[in-house]
Amino acid sequence: MYTFTEAKANTFILSLDNHVEIAAALEAFCREQDILAGTITGLGAISEATFRFLDPATKQYVDQTFSEQMEITNLTGNISQKGGKPYLHLHITASRRDYTCIGGHLLTARINGACELVVEAFPGVWSGRRADAETGLNLYDFTLPQGVEKSLFQFVEREIIPQYAAFDKAHRQDHVRSVIARALGLAEFYPVRRDILYVAAAFHDVGMRAGRETHHLESGRIIRETAELRTWFSAEDIETIAQAAEDHRASAQQAPRSLYGRIIAEADRLIVPEQIVRRTVQYGLSHYPELPREGHWERTLAHLHEKYAEGGYLKLWIPESDNAAALEQLRALIRDEQALRALFERLYDEETR
Ligand SMILES: [Fe+2]
Ligand SMILES: [Fe+2]
Repeated sequence: MYTFTEAKANTFILSLDNHVEIAAALEAFCREQDILAGTITGLGAISEATFRFLDPATKQYVDQTFSEQMEITNLTGNISQKGGKPYLHLHITASRRDYTCIGGHLLTARINGACELVVEAFPGVWSGRRADAETGLNLYDFTLPQGVEKSLFQFVEREIIPQYAAFDKAHRQDHVRSVIARALGLAEFYPVRRDILYVAAAFHDVGMRAGRETHHLESGRIIRETAELRTWFSAEDIETIAQAAEDHRASAQQAPRSLYGRIIAEADRLIVPEQIVRRTVQYGLSHYPELPREGHWERTLAHLHEKYAEGGYLKLWIPESDNAAALEQLRALIRDEQALRALFERLYDEETR
């Protein structure tokens, strides 16, 4: 769908493949890089674009599709989050064969030629969206997670989030902030208390200081022993929070004990098929360096079957998340051994180069 390079920290240069739809490709990129806030600029050429106009008087949307070759003279957009997913707001100006321009709010555009973009990510920034009745728009919402008291938010920001700076690369502050954002996004679909979910997400990996193996249990212990939490929560609430943190591990044999645990487990996970295959190859290379290429292929195949194929031990708990659809894609890939082998060969070459 695209190729990209990270030009500097959190700034990506992207080249989208010909004939792909721009909004879908950008959404996939944001998801795959776990970008929840940022900006987009770009240019390119397209053969079809659908614009949307909101009539402020009637609050009705009017969509119109233009099917002709056009140059994107500017594509500008921003990335925020809604419902636990990246939410794109894109505007475009496109020039026609006679050099006149049309422009507007962009829904979709099909590339015919090239599309080159720069995406700047703002990791850890809270930029949500809320439906606004007066304008009929989904407006930016920078307020605290709804339902979370300011003093609790400040406590978490001051005392808990900074602890993640000491953990390994996959469990740093950007990870915990993503999990908080996704968990609160998923809360839109369920009757849950957002303050409980927020704290469970904020603490879920804090036990990493005791090492990876038992970190989920350690997180639970820390939650029960954090006396400050009694300022905002009852003993029963704290037990719910502790259990949700304990139940977040993907390898847990049992279902999370509560809806909170299911949401945290789901928010903690980001299924991106190619990344999963790549991490499997990387793990094999670092733990079994003596294996020949064929041995790495067999290990990769066995691991993918064991964890991700139908009947594998990975369990998803929240059907509304994007993970369910991504897991289906991964399963189709696992079934298509030829395609999987081709991907393995490419990733193996990239990882051993
Ligand atoms: Fe974890
Ligand atoms: Fe985590």
